[in-house]
Amino acid sequence: MAKSTKDIKALLAEMTLEEKVGQLVQLNTALLGKSTAEITGPAQKLGVDPAQLKYVGSTLNFHGVEEMIALQETHMAEDRLGIPICFMMDVIHGYRTIYPLPIALGASFDPDLVAKCTRMAAKEATAGGVQVNFTPMVDYVRDARWGRVMECCGEDPYLNSVMGAVQVKAFQGDDLSDPENMAACVKHFAAYGGAEAGRDYNTVEISERLLREYYFPAYKACVDAGVRMVMPSFNSLNGVPSIANKWLIEDVLKKEWGFDGVIISDYNAIGELLKHGITDDMKEAARLAFEAYCDIDMMSPGYCKFLGDLVREGKISEEALDRAVLKVLQLKKDLGLFEDPYRGATPEKEAAVCLTPEHRAIAREAAESSAVLLKNEGVLPFKKDVKRVALIGPFAATQAIKGFWACNGEDKDCISVEMGVKNLLPDAEVIAVEGCSAEWNELSREGFAAAVEAAKNADAVVLCLGEPQNYCGEGNSRADIRLPGVQEELASLVLAANKNTAVLLFNGRPLVLTEIDKIAPAILTMWFPGTEGGNAAARLLFGDANPSGKVSMSFPKAVGQCPIYYNHPNTGRPKRKAEEIHETYTSNYIGCGNLPLYSFGHGLSYSNFVYESLELDTDTMTDESTITVTIRVKNDSARKGREVIQLYMHDLYASTVRPIQSLIAFEKIELDAGETRDVTFTVTEPQLRFYDFNCNHISEAGEFTLSTGYADHLLHTKSFWLKK
Ligand code: NOJ
Repeated sequence: MAKSTKDIKALLAEMTLEEKVGQLVQLNTALLGKSTAEITGPAQKLGVDPAQLKYVGSTLNFHGVEEMIALQETHMAEDRLGIPICFMMDVIHGYRTIYPLPIALGASFDPDLVAKCTRMAAKEATAGGVQVNFTPMVDYVRDARWGRVMECCGEDPYLNSVMGAVQVKAFQGDDLSDPENMAACVKHFAAYGGAEAGRDYNTVEISERLLREYYFPAYKACVDAGVRMVMPSFNSLNGVPSIANKWLIEDVLKKEWGFDGVIISDYNAIGELLKHGITDDMKEAARLAFEAYCDIDMMSPGYCKFLGDLVREGKISEEALDRAVLKVLQLKKDLGLFEDPYRGATPEKEAAVCLTPEHRAIAREAAESSAVLLKNEGVLPFKKDVKRVALIGPFAATQAIKGFWACNGEDKDCISVEMGVKNLLPDAEVIAVEGCSAEWNELSREGFAAAVEAAKNADAVVLCLGEPQNYCGEGNSRADIRLPGVQEELASLVLAANKNTAVLLFNGRPLVLTEIDKIAPAILTMWFPGTEGGNAAARLLFGDANPSGKVSMSFPKAVGQCPIYYNHPNTGRPKRKAEEIHETYTSNYIGCGNLPLYSFGHGLSYSNFVYESLELDTDTMTDESTITVTIRVKNDSARKGREVIQLYMHDLYASTVRPIQSLIAFEKIELDAGETRDVTFTVTEPQLRFYDFNCNHISEAGEFTLSTGYADHLLHTKSFWLKK
C-alpha cells in the first residue's frame, strides 16, 4: 500500500472538541452507531450520550469482518472529516488457526517459530479486519495460581524479552501500511503478574529494584522493538493504579525509555479508579488518567463524558489534548486507514487465508515444539505397531483444547487426541473413554470401571488429563492447582491396570503433579496446544515427532511453594542438605523440599544429549572485552533431535544480593544421531549488570560463574573475573 500523504495536522485543525475527544474514546460494538434504546447489557451502564457515539475513534473485540465492514461503511458515510474507526482485538495465540498458548511458546525456546506463528496470526487477523492487536502480554510471573500465566512466555525475564520483541516485530513488520501487518500493544504495564497470592487484579507492592530487575525488562524490550501501543495494567502498583501512576508512565516509560506511541487504558481501568478508592468522581478519574498520559480510554465513561468539559474548564490544556489526538491519527495514518479504511479485509479474503493446510502445519509444528516431556522411564515413544490403544480421561476425545482466549478459533476445528491417534494409526483399534470429569466440583466415579477395563485390554494407554481450558486466563485464578476433580484417583486405577501408560496433560499453567509423578512412568504436557493439538500429541506419543520443549515456568511440588522461581536471590541461611531432608534454622519447608517438581529449563527428549564440556576462551573480562563460551554437546542416541542449549550466569559477590543463577543466552539446535556440535555464546559486560541499592544499572568487579544444563541441574560451571 502507498504511504499515506494525509496531513494529520491540517485535519486536527479542522476538528471540533467533540471530534477530538472521540478519537480518544474506545467503545465496543454494542455501543457504536446505536441509539439509547438500542444500547443494552453492560454497555448500558456506561451511560454514554448517543450524540457522542458517532465520534468514537476505535472499537474492540468486534464480531467478524462483516461487522467491521458494516460499521466502517456507516461511519465513513456519516463522518464529516472522513476519519476511519480503528478496529482492535486480542489476538493472543492465533486468530482462526490457533497455535499453543504463549506459555507453551515460551517452552519451545524457539524465537523463529514464535515469529512464524505470529506472522500467521497477523495474516489471518488482518484479513478478518483487525488493525491493532492487544498483544504481546509480557507480564513477569512467579505464581502459577494466577490464571494469566498462560498469556506470557514464562518466569524468565530474558526469555520473555526475547519472545516479546519477536512478536512485536513479526506483528508490525517493517511497514505498518502493509495490510498484512498490524500494530502491536504490549501489556500490562506494569507488574500485573505480581498480583498478591496469584489472585487476578490483586494489589502489587514491589520495590523499584525488583521491578527494574525482573518485571520491566520484557516491556522495555518491546518498546525497544518499536511497539506502537502500551496498555497500563489494572493493578495498583505501590499504592497507585498504573493508569494514574505518573512515575511509571511519565518517568519510566516516556522519559527513560523514550516511548512516544499510543497509551491505551485496559478495559474500564479509568472507571476502576473509583473502585480503587483513588477518587469518588468519574470526571476526576478521567483527569488523573489523562495527566498520566493515557491517550485512549477503553470502555469507561471517563473520557467520553468528561474530557470535553475538562478541556473547556481549563483543567486539561487543549495542547495536551491535541498531542494525544495526533498520536491516534498518526497511528491511523501509518496503518493506511485514510487510503483504505478496511485495509483490504473481506469475508472472501478471510476465508481464503484462514485455517489453510499451511497454517495448520505451522500450528502442528508449534504444538510439537512446545510440548514438554516432563518424565519418561522408557514408556515413550509407544511402538507404532500397537493393535489396541486406550485413550482415557476427560481430554481423550474433547476438541476443547485450543486454550483460553483463542480469538475466533473454534473447538470444532481442533483435532482431539482421539482424532489425532486415529489419523496416525489407521489400522489400530483406538478407543476413547472419559473416565471422569475435569471440573473441580464433579466428583462422579461412575466412569472408572469402564476406564480400567479399557486400560487392561490395551497395548498402550494414554491418560489424557488436565484442567478445563477456561480454568486459566483472565479472572481465572486457582488456589489449588492440582488436577481438578477425581482425575488423580482415575490415574492411579488406570496405572495399576496397565503399566504401559503415559500421562498426556492439557494445562494453561504449571500444575502440582506430585502425586501423578509418583505413579506415572511418563508425563508429557501439551499445555493447550491449539487447532492441531491432537495430531501433534499423536506424533509425539508414537515417535513421529521428538519432544524438544523445556519448562518455561516452574511446576511446584506443592501450592504452598508459590511464588516459586528458579532465579531467586540467596538467603543468609540457604538449605545445605539433600532436598528431602528438613533442616531447622535454614530456609526450607517441613515435608516438602525447596525445589519445584520440574524446574525451569527442564525437558526430556527421545534423543540422549550429553553435555561434554563448557570452555571459556579467557577467565578475565573488562567492560570492553568479551568472553567466548563454547559448549560441546553430543547426541548420543540413534534419533535426530532438538535441544535447547542454555547459558546461566551467577554473580558471586555484589553490593546487593544476586540471584543464584540467571539465564543469559540460549539456542535451540538440531543434532543428528551421533552428532557432536560446539555451540558458542559471547558474554559482554552489559549481561553482568544489575540494579544496585539506588537503582543504578551497573556491574561490579569480581568473580562470576557460567554454567549450562538447566536451572536445578547446572553443569560444567566455570569461573571468570570482571576487572574494572
Ligand atoms: C482486559 C484484559 O486485561 C486485556 O488484556 C485485554 O486486552 C482487554 N481486556 C481487551 O479485551
